[in-house]
Amino acid sequence: MTADLSRTSGKSVVLVGLMGAGKTSVGRKLAEKLELPFTDADEEIVKAAGCSIEDIFEHYGEDAFRDVEERVISRLLDQGPQVLATGGGAFMNPRTRTQIAAQSVSVWLRADLDVLLRRTRRRGGRPLLKNRDPKATLKRLMDERYPVYAEADIIVDSKDEGPDATVRLITDALGALGAAGKETLA
Ligand code: S3P
Repeated sequence: MTADLSRTSGKSVVLVGLMGAGKTSVGRKLAEKLELPFTDADEEIVKAAGCSIEDIFEHYGEDAFRDVEERVISRLLDQGPQVLATGGGAFMNPRTRTQIAAQSVSVWLRADLDVLLRRTRRRGGRPLLKNRDPKATLKRLMDERYPVYAEADIIVDSKDEGPDATVRLITDALGALGAAGKETLA
């Protein structure tokens, strides 16, 4: 498999954004398109811990989860160019953010509250939303996290028409970023 690394300058592409933003489904399609391996950080955390994310939160707490998350993402980034979907809280860690900035092109998949709510209702397994008012939780997380997600290199609106439309926006933006980089160098 020969990867077309020109659009990413040989770097990884890291997807960030809230739960339900579509990081995994978009990430898989984007990886196919860029001919890069796809990795899902949450899946790797489950493999490393040997139990589900819900179990990690329940038995060891969120801080322990964040420790494992930081270590797993650091290891994954060191493995070379890939499309990496991160869990919604990962980019809030300043050390993870620094490493992402150094080793990848970051993409924030931005989505509205209603879209996130609808999508997160479809799939459980998210301990932060296991409460009486997931809408209020998502709203609070948007307020806390959106200013930080905005540090990503590329920001795209996660399309409701499905992952392909969002992938197109990302590849266009990667192209523009590459072109801008060349312009700066010239
Ligand atoms: C979290 C998001 C989840 C998972 C964990 C915590 C968060 O990943 O990492 O439940 O803090 O937003 P997804 O964004 O893939 O659902």
